[in-house]
Amino acid sequence: MNTDHIVQTFIEYFQQRGHRRITGSSLLPPPGDPVLFTTSGMHPLTPYLEGEPHPLGRRLVNVQRCLRTTDLDEVGDDTHLTVFEMLGTWSLGDYDHSQSLRWGYDLLVDGYGIEPGRLHATVFGGDGQLGPDTDSLHLWQERGVPVELTRDENWWNNGPTGPCGPDSEIFMWTGDTPPRSTPTRDDRWVEVWNHVLMRYRRDEDGTLHPLPQSNIDTGLGLERLSTLLQGKKSVYDCDLFQPWMRTVPPLWCLDEPSLRLVCDHLRSSVAVLGDGVMPSNTGRGYVPRRLTRRLLTTLWRHDPSRTLGDVPLELLEHTLDHFHQSVDVSTVREILLDEERRFTHLLERGRRILAKPRFNSTLTDADYLYLHDTHGLPRELVTSLRTELAGDPAPTPGTDLAQPTPTASCE
Ligand code: SER
Repeated sequence: MNTDHIVQTFIEYFQQRGHRRITGSSLLPPPGDPVLFTTSGMHPLTPYLEGEPHPLGRRLVNVQRCLRTTDLDEVGDDTHLTVFEMLGTWSLGDYDHSQSLRWGYDLLVDGYGIEPGRLHATVFGGDGQLGPDTDSLHLWQERGVPVELTRDENWWNNGPTGPCGPDSEIFMWTGDTPPRSTPTRDDRWVEVWNHVLMRYRRDEDGTLHPLPQSNIDTGLGLERLSTLLQGKKSVYDCDLFQPWMRTVPPLWCLDEPSLRLVCDHLRSSVAVLGDGVMPSNTGRGYVPRRLTRRLLTTLWRHDPSRTLGDVPLELLEHTLDHFHQSVDVSTVREILLDEERRFTHLLERGRRILAKPRFNSTLTDADYLYLHDTHGLPRELVTSLRTELAGDPAPTPGTDLAQPTPTASCE
């Protein structure tokens, strides 16, 4: 089942159950939302979860692009991407959690053909303030799906304040041998779908208040689902990444972790620029800057003559088209090349400055502050350059600057 078919099946299934499709909006959350980027499908819906009537009614469905930088160090594994898409459904004070879980289970098993024996659920087991989510527990028990009760892992919130509540997550088994453990103990259980009972709001002082209505907010990672349904091991092997995996390896010879990081960070940078964010040293703009610097660091570790100018315009265009972004592709390319030039200059300046005897010994916080404020050298970069100048190997992709690592076997 290709990704377009997966999306269509999802949307139609919920439309047949009274949901109206809303357009998946940009990576920028609405004003007043506490996060810099949309990290989950519910962001554009915050006012409606808090009680404002939605013009399309109480049952909604969509596909929303999201960005998470909290998982940046996990990018390169089989399941994490910086920019990803989330299939989502909402009940704004309409049906209950059990109904949402029933539909979720039926769609996975009957709609997508997943064997019930490959599913596991987790459920909120209660904490000092709230009791366990027994409705969800019973629902899973009735279906014969094994359940693990947790506390923090089954509580969802959107930053420190705002709508929140207990959730029940559905996991799918990806191991080659039958499972022997639970989702929190074995990461071969991959989380596919989270169903949140969003019935509280957390205030600045940490207190929970009931929302005017009890909502359901669900989110299912599209690339992960495609990967699982297509029988692939990593998200980079699913159909969505085929243009990347066809284009990038002939361009630059990279080992697998570097290839994954380069594809993820370049694709994510294009999506962020496509939503109109300009690179800068602070706030939102620091995200595309950091992503391009991490990817250039990885590229240059193998060969410093590599440039983003090598990337065919079609690949950038394919990404903008995929995310339905109307920014001109040559503008995106120019911004990327400008970031590359800035980074080149910064590295040259950094190497010159850090070679001075004053910076030979251990750096103090005051040194880092001076290097940042006077020379524009962030701490992370100073650390990498010092490693490079000392000639120490630093093999983590994206963090070191010019150390050789085992190269890929390319023709
Ligand atoms: N908000 C929940 C999540 O991000 C469900 O959409 O997992």
